[in-house]
Amino acid sequence: MENPNYMRRIRSFVLRQGHLSSGQERAIAEFGEKFCIEYQPGLIDLDAAFGRSGPKILEIGFGMGGPTAEIATHKPETDYLGVEVHTPGVGSLLKLLGEQGLQNVRIVQHDAVEVLEKMLGADSLDGVHIFFPDPWHKKRHNKRRLIQPDLVKLLCSRIKSGGYVHLATDWEDYAIQMLEVLSNEPGLKNTADTYAERPDYRPLTKFENRGIKLGHGVWDLVFRKI
Ligand SMILES: C[S@@+](CC[C@H](N)C(=O)[O-])C[C@H]1O[C@@H](n2cnc3c(N)ncnc32)[C@H](O)[C@@H]1O
Repeated sequence: MENPNYMRRIRSFVLRQGHLSSGQERAIAEFGEKFCIEYQPGLIDLDAAFGRSGPKILEIGFGMGGPTAEIATHKPETDYLGVEVHTPGVGSLLKLLGEQGLQNVRIVQHDAVEVLEKMLGADSLDGVHIFFPDPWHKKRHNKRRLIQPDLVKLLCSRIKSGGYVHLATDWEDYAIQMLEVLSNEPGLKNTADTYAERPDYRPLTKFENRGIKLGHGVWDLVFRKI
């Protein structure tokens, strides 16, 4: 029987059908088997999943996956596990991986909270990226925001000592919440006084570039596991 707590849980996403382009559909058929790992409610061996040992970074909610592929290209020695619920996004990243012949990315299409709880062991990650999580900006929807104390505690338990959490948002009010929640997690230490400089590896998205020109802010936060 399903766990009643899980059934009651407020999720950080609403599953939309979304339009799947023919390119995305082809990529899923052609590359899905190679790069996708099926969700399972049991621990996975990350080294075995990537076919090598080496640093492992989890990305939650990669959207269409452009930055994921770009980061993976620039850091071929690091392995990236991308988790996303949205099928067109999975198709889009698979297309990039296939076209560019990238070897260091794997995808799980599932709720990242459950992936963290069930599939990833304690101290198994070298870092976590969460870029522009849904802001759920209406007050009554704020409870759906991913960055909450329980999730951050869970993240922290899965990161090795010395590993990092990197968040970015363009919603000031969410940035303030992120700073508060991360600062209150005793297992984490801020690498900056408040917000961090954008680390070089995180590419500027088109959308972000436009926002910056319009005078909108973007806030990065980088904390280390003690
Ligand atoms: C606003 S988009 C940002 C996408 C991308 N990171 C970017 O910077 O363009 C947030 C993404 O997170 C995904 N998402 C939200 N909650 C999630 C969860 N619990 N597990 C997996 N993916 C999630 C959504 O489907 C959406 O694609």
